[in-house]
Amino acid sequence: MKRKWALLLLLGIAIPAWAEMEGDTYVPDGVLDARSRESMRARIQAEQAAEAERERLRQAEWRAEQARIAAEAARRPYPERLFEARCGLCHAPEQLAPYRHTWLGWQAVIARMRWLNGAPLSLSEGNVLARYLAERQGARGVAAMLEWAGLLGAALALVLAPWLAWRSLRRRR
Ligand code: HEC
Repeated sequence: MKRKWALLLLLGIAIPAWAEMEGDTYVPDGVLDARSRESMRARIQAEQAAEAERERLRQAEWRAEQARIAAEAARRPYPERLFEARCGLCHAPEQLAPYRHTWLGWQAVIARMRWLNGAPLSLSEGNVLARYLAERQGARGVAAMLEWAGLLGAALALVLAPWLAWRSLRRRR
């Protein structure tokens, strides 16, 4: 008696499972027949091809835009690009925008960047940048005069100090 129930249970599981596995022959209502499945597949493939084409166009547009940006960047003046490449390593442009210096002042700033902060730039690049910055962000009027006087005074003091020290030492003997 028990075995009969077990057999019935087993058949109850096995038959529907077998029907599911039968694939094509198992077509409940609402499922596509072979022809409409084929046309559905064709429509999906067409849509995928169209999407791939749109993607290709998008990429081509993007590349053209990049090339345009690069060409525009290359047309900008050399000092401007040099400033961004060298000073932009450590400073955002707007960080340096408020500073005003004379040509000599910018030379001093750039020398400090090079020797103290380790900015990698050659002497000739420093000269180009000093001229460019003095023109774009030059100190004017009294501020300019004070900067020239201060820096020249500092340079003079640097030269004179050893000489004065040497003279006073010699006098004491
Ligand atoms: C390697 C990093 C580095 C690079 C590159 C660099 N700087 Fe600086 N800069 C600093 C640091 C650090 C400070 C703050 C300490 C100081 O004032 O020395 C500073 C401060 C400054 C200041 C404000 C200080 C002042 O009193 O004037 C100016 C202006 C400046 N930099 C300009 C420049 C310019 C122009 C360049 C490009 C030629 C440049 N920096 C490149 C690191 C750098």
